[in-house]
Amino acid sequence: HGKLIRSIVAEVLIKLNKREKILPDHLVGIQDRVEDVKHLLDEGSLDVRYLVIHGMGGIGKTTLAKVVFNQISGRFNGCSFLLGVQEAARDGKIVQLQKQLLSEILNSTPVEIFDSDAGINQIKRRFRHKKVLIVFDDLDERDQLSMLAAKGNWFGLGSRIIITTRDTNNLAIEEYKIYQMTELLYHHALQLFSKHAFGMDSPPHDYDDISCNITRMTGGLPLALEVIGLFSLSQRKPIWKEMLKKL
Ligand SMILES: Nc1ncnc2c1ncn2[C@@H]1O[C@H](COP(=O)(O)OP(=O)(O)OP(=O)(O)O)[C@@H](O)[C@H]1O
Ligand SMILES: [Mg+2]
Repeated sequence: HGKLIRSIVAEVLIKLNKREKILPDHLVGIQDRVEDVKHLLDEGSLDVRYLVIHGMGGIGKTTLAKVVFNQISGRFNGCSFLLGVQEAARDGKIVQLQKQLLSEILNSTPVEIFDSDAGINQIKRRFRHKKVLIVFDDLDERDQLSMLAAKGNWFGLGSRIIITTRDTNNLAIEEYKIYQMTELLYHHALQLFSKHAFGMDSPPHDYDDISCNITRMTGGLPLALEVIGLFSLSQRKPIWKEMLKKL
């Protein structure tokens, strides 16, 4: 019974997690990817691990990171999901991210920090013995990481740091695992297109061929399927044919 109760408690804690990320209603082909990521995270091991989710824009990195975060964050002593690190760094807002990181993980009101060095010191001091889960979304340079999570020894045993990025060339992390995002499988792509274009899992009969063609053209990129699907929703069939010619 002990095992069952523990797993129920873990589930409840996850459900209660206020930091749950909001996801689109219809996700396709996600659970297999989640399992792969969880496998790479190797939660059982006690060391601190970095995992990079890599892939082109619109392929679904942030979405995948959110699903993983929602599923496992309850098993850590603190968690934080920082969106758009690259953009924040460009706008000189790293200190703001440090504050968000500290207050989310400590579950407290914002910590006062005046510069990024002070932020680094706080992070190192407060998280050294905490098992944390942090997602840095869209982080693409070592400099950004050096102010947020430069080294594994900043964090307690069992901590996991997930990074999503379009470009790994300038990350220069000592040791990390990589999850390479791939395009959606064709049947998932068609399902996603149909959801957006018709609100159904598969296209209506007379839109079968054209939907398949459009889906094939988008190359299994969720963002493209979403945009073209939503656009198609508002159009009549002759315009679809025109659109297909342009793709
Ligand atoms: N598995 C999926 N099922 C359904 N929709 C998805 C899936 N993955 C991503 N999407 C949708 O596709 C769009 C792009 O996804 P997302 O923002 O995760 O991409 P990304 O790889 O993080 O892109 P970027 O590099 O621009 O940050 C989003 O609107 C998202 O809701
Ligand atoms: Mg993203």
